[in-house]
Amino acid sequence: MKFLTSLRRRSAARPVLLLLTLVVLALSYSVVSPQRSSAETETTQQVEQGKAIFDQNCSSCHGLNGEGTTAGPTLIGVGAASVDFQMGTGRMPAARGEAQIPAREVQFTEDQIESVAAYVASLGAGPAIPEESQYTADLSEEDIARGGALFRANCSACHGITGGGGAMPEGKYAPSLRDTSAVHIYEAMRTGPQMMPTFSKDVMTDESVTEIIAYLEEVNSQPNYGGLTMGDAGPVSEGFWIFVIGIGGLAIVATWIAKKGARAR
Ligand code: HEC
Ligand code: HEC
Repeated sequence: MKFLTSLRRRSAARPVLLLLTLVVLALSYSVVSPQRSSAETETTQQVEQGKAIFDQNCSSCHGLNGEGTTAGPTLIGVGAASVDFQMGTGRMPAARGEAQIPAREVQFTEDQIESVAAYVASLGAGPAIPEESQYTADLSEEDIARGGALFRANCSACHGITGGGGAMPEGKYAPSLRDTSAVHIYEAMRTGPQMMPTFSKDVMTDESVTEIIAYLEEVNSQPNYGGLTMGDAGPVSEGFWIFVIGIGGLAIVATWIAKKGARAR
């Protein structure tokens, strides 16, 4: 008899226990589970805002879904970094029919540029906008010197020995890097705008990029000590002047000796 009541009590307890377990589980889940957060809705909103700006200002050349048209390349997979560079230096939106699209006054706010970058990034994976730690660091003189060597090996052929800029075939040019911000230097290297080659992470680490940027900052902070900069073009123009003065001087000396010799005879 006693055994039976305890059994009945137990069988009544079972559903109650089950319910209790479920409630506890549900409660603990809601505590532990990731907050389906405001951050997520925020990015969705950002992408939507970006698409609206894109449709109005960019789609005529790049297509309604960034697939490209005859007037502009596809943006699928170019990444947020490319948009941040192109819009952040005022190159985009481009005007029609330019041989080389120049840097111009920036036409959008940082917030708007970020939203278009988020939208383009949502079309296909590509280089992201870098964190500041990826392109700035406290570097030693030695690191900066290494940046200079990297710059001369990889960049100076087009941009000049100290980044003053230089001409390229067909009326194009590599711009001066004097006023370019660190983040845009990083992005230009990673995305290779127009005639410039892309330097991916496989070719050049973030560390090397940081050294190049530090070198350019050092060059740009150096005052002009007077005298001829000779276009800051380095060995070419310096060589030219040495040629003119050196060979010219030798020619004068040679003529003088020849004249003297003739007189002596
Ligand atoms: C008048 C046409 C035109 C308009 C408008 C325009 N673009 Fe472009 N865009 C171009 C062309 C042409 C290029 C390619 C330049 C080159 O590489 O020679 C380009 C290149 C780009 C690139 C570089 C792609 C890469 O390969 O890295 C990005 C990013 C870009 N545009 C974004 C935009 C955005 C964002 C807008 C709107 C704010 C915009 N463009 C408006 C014509 C246009
Ligand atoms: C083959 C020639 C070439 C080489 C090599 C080259 N660039 Fe460029 N670079 C260009 C051209 C051309 C442009 C202009 C592209 C444009 O306006 O979209 C450019 C643009 C840039 C810009 C944007 C400047 C601005 O203010 O808008 C930066 C920054 C830059 N290059 C840095 C570098 C660095 C750093 C290297 C070496 C790691 C390098 N480039 C190597 C040709 C080159």
